[in-house]
Amino acid sequence: MTFPKDFVWGAATASYQIEGAVNADGRGDSVWDSYCRRPGAVWEKQSGEVACDHYHRWREDVDLMKQIGLTGYRFSIAWPRVMPEGAGQVNPKGLDFYSRLVDALLAAGVEPWPTLFHWDYPQALFDRGGWLSPDSPQWFADYTAAVVDKLSDRVSHWFTLNEPQCFILFGHRDGIQAPGLKLSRREVLRAAHHSMLAHGRAVQVIRQRSAQPAQVGIAHVGWSFIPATDSEADIAAARDMTFSTVETQRLDNAWWMDPVYLGRYPEQALQFYGADAPKVRDGDMETICQPLDVQAFNTYEGQLVRAGADGRPEVIPQPTGVARAHMGGPVTPDSLYWNAKFFHERYGLPIVVSENGTSNTDWVMTDGRCRDPQRIDLLRRYLRAFERAGDEGVPIRGYFQWSLMDNFEWGHGFKFRFGLIHVDYVTQQRTLKDSALWYRDVIASNGAKIRDD
Ligand code: FCB
Repeated sequence: MTFPKDFVWGAATASYQIEGAVNADGRGDSVWDSYCRRPGAVWEKQSGEVACDHYHRWREDVDLMKQIGLTGYRFSIAWPRVMPEGAGQVNPKGLDFYSRLVDALLAAGVEPWPTLFHWDYPQALFDRGGWLSPDSPQWFADYTAAVVDKLSDRVSHWFTLNEPQCFILFGHRDGIQAPGLKLSRREVLRAAHHSMLAHGRAVQVIRQRSAQPAQVGIAHVGWSFIPATDSEADIAAARDMTFSTVETQRLDNAWWMDPVYLGRYPEQALQFYGADAPKVRDGDMETICQPLDVQAFNTYEGQLVRAGADGRPEVIPQPTGVARAHMGGPVTPDSLYWNAKFFHERYGLPIVVSENGTSNTDWVMTDGRCRDPQRIDLLRRYLRAFERAGDEGVPIRGYFQWSLMDNFEWGHGFKFRFGLIHVDYVTQQRTLKDSALWYRDVIASNGAKIRDD
């Protein structure tokens, strides 16, 4: 088989990472603006204040997407642009920006796949309790309504949240991302529960108010575990680990995905958390578990798992000298194969890879070209693995490369370059990297190009 005819060949970005223009047209502060001002929080005191200046250069950026031939673009909408105080007053100028962007995308033949929330939480709402507040799901629902009313005549694909695991755990437990809190386990789980309710409420709002039938998903972290060998025992161990909520205790998938797709928290975890588990009120799980059209996950790397001597799954080290991205993670293409398999087995939805890609030490060379052979090779390998899942019957629906362009990588500032497009942050000059030209050929051949070389 090859990729299905209507397979979406996309790239992804997020508002705070590319837009800049943090004070333009009435945008309110987000927790990321505040976090970046905190001494020592972000590498070299950098911030998203200017970033790729996409807020002013969106026309050029859409033109580049057209040159690459993207059929989908996943971007996020900055909540504090649309509602500077997070709730209440809508800022028409903020909405107009996304409306113009959507028009330009459609004119360029690129399907918009906006994400409603990719971490730039309104500071004003954080000051009112943020995700700990029981009102937070309703705030998100009201914001969603404003966006859907404005865009749904042209937008029919939506993601609600990006990686709740990260903004809750890294942001509220570990303090290494905005808002930089280190809350107790009980509070973290309460904030997490509210974020899930917010997702569910947003799905309801989209279904109720959309001007056309909508396709909706949520972009979870797809934490990946790869069987160390093809033996049945190792495959079973990797599957167990993929859905274990006790062994991993980090970005565990089932805690975040089971409520959304199955309408319940995993029993194993509820027992483990005991009195710290969130208070689930009547109707909560029904709200959280709204029918979705796709299962989306962001996956970059995975861990190797084998069946341990005592029968329990066991993570083993990567092979010595394994290829690694600039940011440090190992190159593990089979992550896409096994995640697609395991997730589809458990939840049964068509699969979208909402982020996958790599960081590389790219620069523009003396002849004006930006060569990034590692990225090309990595994308080729990961796409082959994803296609293999499709060959074996998993419905694969789309793939979004992270990222369209180099951008502000959160606490790492601009240190790591993830883009298909090189951005010179001093001149704002954009240069298509070799990988962008290669991806253009992949798209034009509907994937056949990944089988070359
Ligand atoms: C993901 C984030 C995205 C980007 C990539 C590298 O966790 O969703 O914004 O930072 O990692």
